[in-house]
Amino acid sequence: MSIKIVETSLRDGHQSLLATRMTTEEILSIVPELDKAGFHALEVWGGATFDSCLRFLNEDPWERLREIKKLAPNTKLQMLFRGQNILGYRHYADDIVEKFVQKSIENGIDIIRIFDALNDIRNLKSAVDATKKYGGHCQIALSYTTSPVHTVSYFVNLAQEVEKMGADSLCIKDMAGILLPSDAFDLITQLKKNTKLPINLHSHATAGIMEATYIKAIEAGVDIIDTALSPLSGGTSQPATESFHYILEHTKYDPKLNIKHLNNAAQKLTFIKDNYLKNGILNPKALTSNPSILQYQVPGGMLSNLMSQLKEQNQMQDYEEVLKEIPVVRKDLGYPPLVTPISQMVGTQAVMNVISGERYKIVPTEVKEYLHGYYGQAPAPVNPLVLAKIIGNDHIITHRPADDLKPEFEDLKKKYAYIAKSDEDILSIALFGKVALDFLEKKYQEKPKQQVYAFSVTIGGKPL
Ligand code: CO
Repeated sequence: MSIKIVETSLRDGHQSLLATRMTTEEILSIVPELDKAGFHALEVWGGATFDSCLRFLNEDPWERLREIKKLAPNTKLQMLFRGQNILGYRHYADDIVEKFVQKSIENGIDIIRIFDALNDIRNLKSAVDATKKYGGHCQIALSYTTSPVHTVSYFVNLAQEVEKMGADSLCIKDMAGILLPSDAFDLITQLKKNTKLPINLHSHATAGIMEATYIKAIEAGVDIIDTALSPLSGGTSQPATESFHYILEHTKYDPKLNIKHLNNAAQKLTFIKDNYLKNGILNPKALTSNPSILQYQVPGGMLSNLMSQLKEQNQMQDYEEVLKEIPVVRKDLGYPPLVTPISQMVGTQAVMNVISGERYKIVPTEVKEYLHGYYGQAPAPVNPLVLAKIIGNDHIITHRPADDLKPEFEDLKKKYAYIAKSDEDILSIALFGKVALDFLEKKYQEKPKQQVYAFSVTIGGKPL
């Protein structure tokens, strides 16, 4: 059975290694070669790519998508979608989720990979329904992590539920790169036995184990793997695409990639990457293997965030202690997977516990909201002592967080009619507020006729 390959250099590859700074021009220079290489899909869009376009590159992410589509007529385009968080960091109303899915598909996305940080499937439902409604391929991703509750049967049960929800395929999203080869074999074997869904494995090379893990997953029957073209592979990114071409060629798993086009694209991408090495955006440290993440189970991106937080506060001497505190916080919070936006919460709480010298003396707003149920249900019960200390007898919601949100799109459309020229502009504003408004102001080069505020939105009466 031929393995299918998703090429990630245009999304996760540069997100993992180049702080998501690749420009549309750089991306477009390699798309025609990638389009001819025989990939199952090109992953091109997601939260960080969208944010970075508006915030740092002064580029319209919707235009980038349309341009890529024009140059890739033969290959499906894929995006990563954070369930009810869409591409942002909070929960959005259902009408924004639906509109975002509709417009993503209209502008060129074929496959939408939808996940929820907590694997709370209620948070996936509106994105899933919208993807089906507008004719996209709906891939549901389960956030992979290890804990006493995250057993093989936990993932099998979830997989069966998402199959019932209408997923077209399933992804195991190992954002931290901690899935060991033997565990991958067991997990994929059981998933293949218990669902009919094609299975995609997404992981990171961070710990230096991922080629081995992918091979075991392939032997267990995985259908699709995610890899990045060699210049943007390895380290905190995916394993290299060309390596898997050579590993699998002449076997029954041959993905039938065209190595000539891969080499052409890699050559161009090497020039691009070298510029990011010179200007310091690519840190060579991100390119070496870091097996110690297997000890702490902390994603590579989270490690570098922690380092910069501690450096800012001149507390680098606490680094080891913070690393040890992370598993404690994670256990107290009911073992959430460490993925955006939960990884930032857990990391910040661990830093505060260590720096203040007392656990949960200082608690970030987001952690309080998490404990109130505003992100969904924790995978395991929260430590009752910690809960009592932080939120006392406050009411905890048990319904789907977005049930409290009123439709937002039409109001935003009226409010920003003076600057937005399309529904896509409104969606950029809905997700990125002032960052998007500043961008649109520059793009259309006219002063807004009213004072612009970064608007705040509330869930369950609490500002986020
Ligand atoms: Co990833």
